[in-house]
Amino acid sequence: MKVAVLKETRAGERRVALVPQGVKALLKAGLEVTIQTGAGLASSVSDTEYKEAGATIAASAPEALRDAGMVLAVNAPPPTDVAAMSEGTILVSFLSPLTNPDLVRALAASKITGIAMEMIPRITRAQSMDALSSQATVAGYKAVLIAADHLPKFLPMFTTAAGTIRPAKALILGAGVAGLQAIATARRLGAVVLAFDVRPAVKEQVESLGASFLEADEEVAAEGEGGYAKELSEDQHKKELDLIAGAIVDCDIVITTAQIPGRDAPLLITEDMVRSMRPGSVIIDLASESGGNCALTQSGETVVEHGVHILGPVNLPAGIPVHASQMYSKNIVTLVGEFVGEEGQVELDMENDVVGPSTVTHEGQVTNERVRNALST
Ligand code: NAI
Repeated sequence: MKVAVLKETRAGERRVALVPQGVKALLKAGLEVTIQTGAGLASSVSDTEYKEAGATIAASAPEALRDAGMVLAVNAPPPTDVAAMSEGTILVSFLSPLTNPDLVRALAASKITGIAMEMIPRITRAQSMDALSSQATVAGYKAVLIAADHLPKFLPMFTTAAGTIRPAKALILGAGVAGLQAIATARRLGAVVLAFDVRPAVKEQVESLGASFLEADEEVAAEGEGGYAKELSEDQHKKELDLIAGAIVDCDIVITTAQIPGRDAPLLITEDMVRSMRPGSVIIDLASESGGNCALTQSGETVVEHGVHILGPVNLPAGIPVHASQMYSKNIVTLVGEFVGEEGQVELDMENDVVGPSTVTHEGQVTNERVRNALST
């Protein structure tokens, strides 16, 4: 079967779905790989490197898609590319299926099997395929670099002949994948780091990274199923806001990453809290696309309110394309291994605990229940 890798078209996107190492792995699995020319350039991979890995190069997206049985991408391909795919094609990429009904309908109507990377379950067995996690790691790291760049201060402590510089103080809210990487990165840069999460289980991980876990007088906790957070009660939410208000006053950097699957991001930073911060401080709100953790965040924008810089960056993984692509490629190759046999034969088994939940359309049907429900609302 021919596998096509398209050049990404989303504005600002610099990642590619497959790096040369991934090409080699798919060839070994009995597949053929065609890369659209220039697809890897923004990730520092030339056509020559792809050819050396055994891929063929196509001059355009339609040429890459011709006779392809599988298409790999980072973002959902544009409608013209979807229209050029033949019936039965397997498309694997981020598809935003819960918020992109037109695409889901188009895939079902064209009998394309859509496998959405964001629907891969966060189970232990699927960790190596979990692209949300690998890309959140990149985002947590990059968020700290952006904050450091905006901050009119050093992060580490310096003892110099010109005096002693005190380290910057960073507060990380939400200690999931992105939050833990933000903590680790801020620590590596020498900041003093505080963190909070509603899952008490992460306290130990936070502390093992050299950060302090914010402790409330009374427990603020909401551990849901499968290790995820659930929404706090009103009373608990108020306690959390008090806790954050007490800590944020003397923080130079705040990075927020709090999310509850399927919900709007919880509000953790009010305008009063922003007002209480020192001018020049920086808030990076990673949850800006799901409503934001800070009341003043504007998704994709940088605003300055009460002297505080508030950034709601989107698609941070595109800012570190080489390693983001390398990790994504590893995720996608491992996932493909779930439904491609040793001779390159495709066996899509909807009973498979990874393939089943991540397949959103198959044989003309919308197969994922959550996606079906989202379409009907
Ligand atoms: P995750 O699910 O691993 O972590 C979220 C954490 O928030 C969990 O540990 C959860 O317990 C915690 N949380 C939930 N409610 C909370 C509350 N009220 N107070 C404190 N903590 C709370 O998610 P992940 O993968 O780390 O992503 C975090 C956020 O970053 C998501 O909103 C995601 O969409 C976003 N993201 C943004 C990117 C960008 O470029 N802007 C790129 C990648 C992720």
